[in-house]
Formats: sequence, C-alpha cells, structure tokens
Amino acid sequence: MIGIETKLSRRSLLCGGLAVGALALFTPGVFAEQLARTPRMTEGPFYPDKLPLDQDNDLIIIGDSLTPAVGEITHLTGRILDINGDPIKNAEIEIWQCDAHQVYLHTSDSIPKKDQQDKNFQGFGRFTTASTGEYRFRTIKPVAYPGRPAAHIHFKIKKGGRELLTSQIFVSGFAGNKRDGIYMDVRDPVDRELVTADFVPIKDSKVGELSARFDVVIGRTPADADGDH
Ligand SMILES: [Fe+2]
Repeated sequence: MIGIETKLSRRSLLCGGLAVGALALFTPGVFAEQLARTPRMTEGPFYPDKLPLDQDNDLIIIGDSLTPAVGEITHLTGRILDINGDPIKNAEIEIWQCDAHQVYLHTSDSIPKKDQQDKNFQGFGRFTTASTGEYRFRTIKPVAYPGRPAAHIHFKIKKGGRELLTSQIFVSGFAGNKRDGIYMDVRDPVDRELVTADFVPIKDSKVGELSARFDVVIGRTPADADGDH
C-alpha cells in the first residue's frame, strides 16, 4: 500500500501544488478505514425445511396467538453495513434458532421431539432493511442443545435474491462457548468477538426482557457498487 506521504508528494507533483494535492487526498472514501467483515460460519442442518406461515420479525408470537413462546424474551437489533460502514438497504436478514426446549423448526428435529417442542415459538423470522440498514427481531435468548454447548442464533443475509452471508450469533460470556467446536473453529479471538453479542437486561422491564445488539458487516456487492444501497 502506498503511504500517505508518498501519495501526497506524488499528487503534489502531479497537481503542481500542495493545496490541490491535499484536497485530492480527502476525496471521500480514499482513506476511509474499512470495517472487519462478519466471519462466515456453517449453516448447520436445521435451516427450516418448511418455512412457517408466520415469518415476521416477532418470533415470540405466532399469528394471532395469545400464548407467547417460552424463554427469555430478547430484542435483537443491529445494522447491516458494508465494509465502509455504509448501511445496506433492502437487505433481507433471516434468523432461525431452536426453542427453549432445544427443538428446531425442521422436521428432522421437530418430528422426533414433537412432545418436547414449544409450539408457540416461531423458530424463524425475517426482516428487510430500509435505508438505515437497521433490523429488529423479538425472539428468545438462545439456548445450548446436545452437540452445541454454545447457545447461538443462526442468520443469513440476502439481497436481490442472492445469499451474501450465513453465520451465527453467540452469547458473550456463555459458559459453553469454549467447548463448542463450531465457535472455537473461528480461530482468531477477534473474529469470535465479531460473532458474539452482549445480551443485557433491559432496565425497568417488568418481565426480565433482554436486549442484544449485533451489527453485520458484509463485503461490497455488485448491486451496492452501482449505487443501490
Ligand atoms: Fe444451531
């Protein structure tokens, strides 16, 4: 990479003066720092084989039901950004996770465990970002299950029908994290941080709700490059 000084002197020479050269240096984006991309992780075997009728961003209530899902209610929010920190609009984020009784919305899990399943948990939801890149879900704090000692929420980002990223969100400080093969497969602790969120109690919530903030950073796509942000 060319250092600032090298570039400055070369531009000064080319432009015939420091003032013009310095101005040229501050062209937006030229030296913008890039954000670290959210690491890709395995999709796992439980992306729903049959999507639920209700696919909204509230996983606690199915349809008009009055009975909420079992679990610690969590407001999961964040932004979908490109590596320059610009929000990506019209990005679709899907999440899926097992219910509080460790059952996924997938026939290979929900059929054998049908007596165990929380029928009030939606198990899957999606949200499409607007110009701010913000997304929002109401779901439960994820739980561990046999084979996966680290609680996690699976997610997938799509845009314009293309899949851009598949990964997982982990719970900061969760006891099983260090014993989870998939989590520890992300070798660099900094990368592990990038797939980990704090689940914190919401002050004054009478029912013990939590909030978790998780930003997703994906590489630029051809659709982004032509200005469709
Ligand atoms: Fe999983």
